[in-house]
Amino acid sequence: MIDGWDAAFDSIEDLISIHDNNFCILKVNKAFSKSVGIPPGKLIGRKCYEVMHAANGPRLSCCHKLAIEGKESKTEENFEPLLKKFFQVSCSPIFDNNKKIIGTVHIARDITGLKRAEERLRQHSNEIEEQLKVIAENAPVFLLQLNRQGHIDYINHAFPQFESDEILGKPFVNFISPEFRPLFLNMLKEVNGEKKFIENELQFAGNHNEPPWYRIKLSPIYRKRTLDRFLVICTDISEIKGKEFEIEKQRQEIIHAHRVLALNEFASSLAHEINQPLTAILSNAQAAQRILSQTDPSLMEFKEIVADIVLATNRAAEVIHRLRKLIKKGEVEFIKLDINMLVNDTVLLLSSNALIKNKFLKTELTPGLPAIIGDRIQLQQVLLNLIMNGLDAMVDAGPEAKDLVIRTSLKDPKTVVVAVEDSGHGFPKSSLGKPFDHFFTTKTQGMGLGLPISFSIVQAHGGQLIVKNKPAGGATVYFSLPVSKDD
Ligand SMILES: Nc1ncnc2c1ncn2[C@@H]1O[C@H](COP(=O)(O)OP(=O)(O)O)[C@@H](O)[C@H]1O
Ligand SMILES: [Mg+2]
Repeated sequence: MIDGWDAAFDSIEDLISIHDNNFCILKVNKAFSKSVGIPPGKLIGRKCYEVMHAANGPRLSCCHKLAIEGKESKTEENFEPLLKKFFQVSCSPIFDNNKKIIGTVHIARDITGLKRAEERLRQHSNEIEEQLKVIAENAPVFLLQLNRQGHIDYINHAFPQFESDEILGKPFVNFISPEFRPLFLNMLKEVNGEKKFIENELQFAGNHNEPPWYRIKLSPIYRKRTLDRFLVICTDISEIKGKEFEIEKQRQEIIHAHRVLALNEFASSLAHEINQPLTAILSNAQAAQRILSQTDPSLMEFKEIVADIVLATNRAAEVIHRLRKLIKKGEVEFIKLDINMLVNDTVLLLSSNALIKNKFLKTELTPGLPAIIGDRIQLQQVLLNLIMNGLDAMVDAGPEAKDLVIRTSLKDPKTVVVAVEDSGHGFPKSSLGKPFDHFFTTKTQGMGLGLPISFSIVQAHGGQLIVKNKPAGGATVYFSLPVSKDD
């Protein structure tokens, strides 16, 4: 059984002392006298600031003073130069029965270990911050911090296009090319708790011919679970983009070259198509000459002949016009198109070619299909390739193989499908279910580019192209195209 308070206070490691209103020590525990190295007897009656702080008077922030003035407990943290230690000191006023303050009790806890650990932590985090700064400054990417409004607070190093002080404090969106601004503003809006980051490729503003391309990764930074800032990582991808554009240009060149070469294949049938109206024009003109040589020429007959000549001329002009459009090397232009009209146009171009081969092109077109978005010439090229392939296969299969049918239908409300179904020998089994190899051909005059090019055109249109053999013989090539959004 512990006897009395003294034994209890002496067993506490904190320094405990009782003082009168005038800073004089009235009582101390063992830990106190041990710390200052003075026996308890010699401490009584001495001013605490002399003993503890080796000073002639209390310090300005002395919590003994503050506790008496404020009539409540006060706490402070001190470094005691004599003891070379940090203390957390709490002073509480002692009241007599009349609620008058008659002194204070001090409890001083040694927090030196804690302080040193704190200091080490601070140094460590300063070092980490320094290292991060060095890493950021030398990073091959641009790192920016934006405030919640999207204004630039920090940038690791200057962009080649802009000086750092030119952009600090300004909205980041100002430095993005106007056409990409809505995209970036949307990113700011969308990046939230569920989305850890959003990435997009966009162009910066600038008065260059080809403004630089950047990949922008935007991440939110939270403080106490609320959005505080944004981190933006910008990687210059101008070079990659340049190469992508170059590859795309080459792709377009190949597509065009193949189109011109494919036209070669049915040039003779086109000549035939033009020859027909030309022959009609000639015979009509000769008839007109005959009428004119008569003594009483019939004006009525003459009018009819001229009308026939106009019709035939228009027909020839129409064929030439269609052909010229196919040969032309224009910009790829995505517009709203009626797929059935496209099929009909292509069939018109190829029907005499089919006739020469003793084959028939038939169409089964679903009326009222929604418009699709695409490049007219390239989609026509796909149809040409597929129909020519079908005709080739049917020629190989012999005279029984007669019909090639082109069907259009709606697969679902968002997808139109075109099927080119022939009655030829079907695809070689080894080539089914595989991607289309460039230069794979089974024809002596073939190039093996028709299918890969058609595949890449359909893919660039957001559709798919697949081939299937029919159980009863022949093949069907299907390609799908997404319908225009506002249809
Ligand atoms: N409708 C088809 N029926 C059977 N085989 C086909 C058909 N279409 C294409 N093929 C096969 O695929 C090969 C590649 O076709 P393609 O890429 O158009 O090149 P090419 O027509 O120059 O050979 C053809 O040589 C043929 O073997
Ligand atoms: Mg082909």
